[in-house]
Amino acid sequence: MTTNTFHETAPAPVAAMVIHPVVAGDARARDPQASLEEAVGLAAAISLDVVAGETVPVHKPRPSTFLGAGKVAAIGDQADGFERRPEVIIVDTALSPVQHRNLEKEWNAKVLDRTALILEIFGARAQTAEGRLQVDLAHLTYQRSRLVRSWTHLERQRGGAGFLGGPGERQIEADRRALAVKIDRLKQKIEQVRRTRTLQRAKRKRAPHPVVALVGYTNAGKSTLFNRLTQSDVFAKDLLFATLDTTMRAVDLPSGQRVIMSDTVGFISDLPTQLVAAFRATLEEVLEADIILHVRDASHADSDAQRDDVIAVLEALGVKADNSAPVVEVMNKLDLLDTDDRDAMIAGARAAMARLEQGDVSFTIDDPLKAPISAINGYGVEGLCAIIDHLITADRATLEVRLPAEMDGDAGAARAWLHERGDIENEINEGMTTLRVRLSPQVLGQFKKRFPLALVSEDAALATASLETRSA
Ligand code: GTP
Repeated sequence: MTTNTFHETAPAPVAAMVIHPVVAGDARARDPQASLEEAVGLAAAISLDVVAGETVPVHKPRPSTFLGAGKVAAIGDQADGFERRPEVIIVDTALSPVQHRNLEKEWNAKVLDRTALILEIFGARAQTAEGRLQVDLAHLTYQRSRLVRSWTHLERQRGGAGFLGGPGERQIEADRRALAVKIDRLKQKIEQVRRTRTLQRAKRKRAPHPVVALVGYTNAGKSTLFNRLTQSDVFAKDLLFATLDTTMRAVDLPSGQRVIMSDTVGFISDLPTQLVAAFRATLEEVLEADIILHVRDASHADSDAQRDDVIAVLEALGVKADNSAPVVEVMNKLDLLDTDDRDAMIAGARAAMARLEQGDVSFTIDDPLKAPISAINGYGVEGLCAIIDHLITADRATLEVRLPAEMDGDAGAARAWLHERGDIENEINEGMTTLRVRLSPQVLGQFKKRFPLALVSEDAALATASLETRSA
């Protein structure tokens, strides 16, 4: 008897080389080795098998190939030397369409510049329908700007016909015409999704749980922190908002205060402008947030430069230094710092905490509150939650509301309403029900509107309200 064995053969990973050009006299230059590592990490994140990575000095970028002629030839030779020749060469800078095309010809390999690489990352990570549409739009716009096809994302959609060799010139021209049509169609779809999102946002506003937005440079630890906050035993995970977006979760803070945590896409340096534009709708969640948590990798060599990149994107989105939600810089990866640096960071954070304790909540992107943590081992996370609690509840007033014993009609509705939207400090049921509840000024305003029969005393120390039933 013969036995046939069928193997599921996974496609072999595509071999890639990563080149990080270091341009002489570039004032914005980062640590070359750290930048190379970042690019290699991004390449690995889209399942490329990086067989070589190197920094390449560039005296003056050449208009035709960006890199010097000698270097171009040397890299081509190096690629030839591998047993499995790299099919993809990543050049970690923004290439002009001409440079892009020339390098592909010289190396007979698919070239991804930094923009294309970031597009791929965003494509791989886009989880929502809107996110995918936005990536597609950014891809098509990028593609239209040059005579090369972008890589995996769209190829995959076409059924992975393979990208090497690529389409002929005439095919590209035909593609270009088709592109314009597709771009229009995508824009319409995105507009539709955006309308739905606006509706969802409005709904969320009606159930006013404060929104806490996580932003940060790629790899800073946003997802690790998000998961720690939403999955730990201490903080009940609640899927109430699961329909909104996979990256939003309701979290109950130790005080019982419910907040919505929203994890945004990571920011990357040189975030291409068309990506900021395409992702505007997603990133705009940040503008609606009640608190912005800027997660930073405190252990990174370019930590301050990364901070500046994130702030530049936030500012481009309209987050203002003088008029935004309070900003907390979460100094993450404390476990990787040496003792002296760690102590200095903790001491610095204490000074800012003193301000908070004195009732100051005016923390801005320029002048943030700092919270040192380690998302991986949990150090400081409880303190961070206390900070969030404090910032959210700082402007709340305590209100005493008396409701008749019969919980029907308006009285029952008012009780349920307050339970859902306020922090109940105390509830006494003695003949009538007395609730002590903390409400933000905004929610207090809504309460008065919704239950106009409620008598609310504006006593600053302790406002009281009693609700007469309509029949009374
Ligand atoms: P993007 O999705 O690229 O925006 O990254 P992110 O900000 O969501 O970072 P993520 O949570 O994926 O963490 C990046 C890497 O840093 C992972 O390998 C984590 O395990 C690691 N990491 C996160 N927090 C800490 C920390 O406190 N200490 C240490 N040592 N590593 C951490």
